[in-house]
This record gives sequence, structure tokens and C-alpha cells, in this order.
Amino acid sequence: MSVKLGVNIDHIATLRQARMDSNPDTVEAARVALSAGADMIVMHLRKDRRHIQESDIERVRREVRCYIHLEMAATEEMEKLAIKLRPDSVCLVPESPDEVTTQGGLKLSGKNDTLSRIIKNLSSRGMGVSLFLDPDPQDIRNAYKLGADTIEICTKAYAESWGKKNQEKELEKIQLASYLVKELNLSLHSGHGLDYYNVSPIAKIEGMECLNIGFSIISRAVFVGLKNAVSGMKSLLS
Ligand code: PXP
Repeated sequence: MSVKLGVNIDHIATLRQARMDSNPDTVEAARVALSAGADMIVMHLRKDRRHIQESDIERVRREVRCYIHLEMAATEEMEKLAIKLRPDSVCLVPESPDEVTTQGGLKLSGKNDTLSRIIKNLSSRGMGVSLFLDPDPQDIRNAYKLGADTIEICTKAYAESWGKKNQEKELEKIQLASYLVKELNLSLHSGHGLDYYNVSPIAKIEGMECLNIGFSIISRAVFVGLKNAVSGMKSLLS
């Protein structure tokens, strides 16, 4: 079975924000990505609004018939926005102001009242809730206890590993973490730093349901167009 592809369109908005203009349009990007085989549209609403704005999510929701997956920090501000913007699912991620991109997964202790409250609140409103985690068994067990229905395993260390041996070591960690996710009966997603060269071993992991990919697709789109970039990535997931 083909792994689902969530296309993250943050960097369409990054380009638009460079001129604070209306182009390139995220609605058009969502339509093109979906027509090329994307299974869902992913957007990360950051506290600093450096790329995606609330209006992007509102417009994609209103103007495009698609599944919307929202990445956001586990804060009260974002919780309220998720309730207002009504994505189909959310992924709770760590966020710090100066980072260029998400720096890894959430570090979870056994008890986290804020997280479990947010998970409960959003789940009760019909949204799927995933937690972005490094391939760490303890974090995965804690996420299960907190009530998440999905784990998105962070592939940053794998994607940035240098040399075959190191990459194999990181892949093994993700594989072991994936067994645990499935053993706990949670859905298994993955993403971060995946590209046309490193995606296949991750897509082949047993039980992998969805990969969320942004930067490499939008970068390739500059040269081959968004449609070709998305369909090229989708063909690597089957
Ligand atoms: N998944 C999560 C939780 C992320 O925060 C990001 C980056 O926004 C991605 C996937 C996509 O990462 P990339 O843009 O490197 O493909």
C-alpha cells in the first residue's frame, strides 16, 4: 500500500512573505499539489508568522476541498487558533523563536498537564492529534500515556547523518521506534529533512502511514514545477 504524502507548503508562503505580496498563492499551491498526488496539505503556523498566516489556513479550508494538517506549538494561543481554523488534524511540535526550522521532537516526561489537556480538547473536537517525537522509546511511551493517537517520528537526525554507516544507525532507531508505535496501536507518521534521495528507506518501514515533506519538494519545484516535484515524490512512496 502506498504511503500517504502530506505536502508542506510553508515555503510557498516564505517566498510570498519576502515581498509581503499575494504571490505565490498558497491556495494555488495546494490545488497543484493535490492534483499531482498529495494526500493532504500541511501548514505550520508559527508564533512569529514568518511564513504561513492564519488567512492561508482559512483560505485553503474555504477554497480547496482537502485534508488539512496543521503543525503548531503546544501553546494556549495555538490551541485557540486550531479550534477556530478547524484543521483535520494537528501535530504538536516544539518551537523556539530563533530556530531556522523545527530542531527535533518534543521531550516528554510522564506527566504534562498542558499537553494532555490540549490533546484531549482538540481530540474531543474531532481533530486527529499527533506528537512530533525523536525515535526515543520513552518519549513514545509517554506520548501514549498523554493520549496522542499518532506519533510523527522526526527524521532530522537520519536526514542529516553523514555516511552510510551513520545513516543506517539512524534508520535502525526509526525502525525500532516504529515497532513500538505500532505495538501501542498508534498511527505512524514521519517527516523532516526527507528528500528524493533519502525518502525510500523511510517509506518502506512497515506500518508507515504518512510522510510529511516540505522543503525538498518546494526546492525542486523551483526547477521542475510544483506538479512534477510532488508527483516525483509521490512515486517514491509506493
Ligand atoms: N514534520 C514536522 C513536524 C515539521 O515541523 C516539518 C517542518 O515544518 C516537516 C515535517 C517537514 O520538514 P521538511 O520541510 O524538512 O520536509
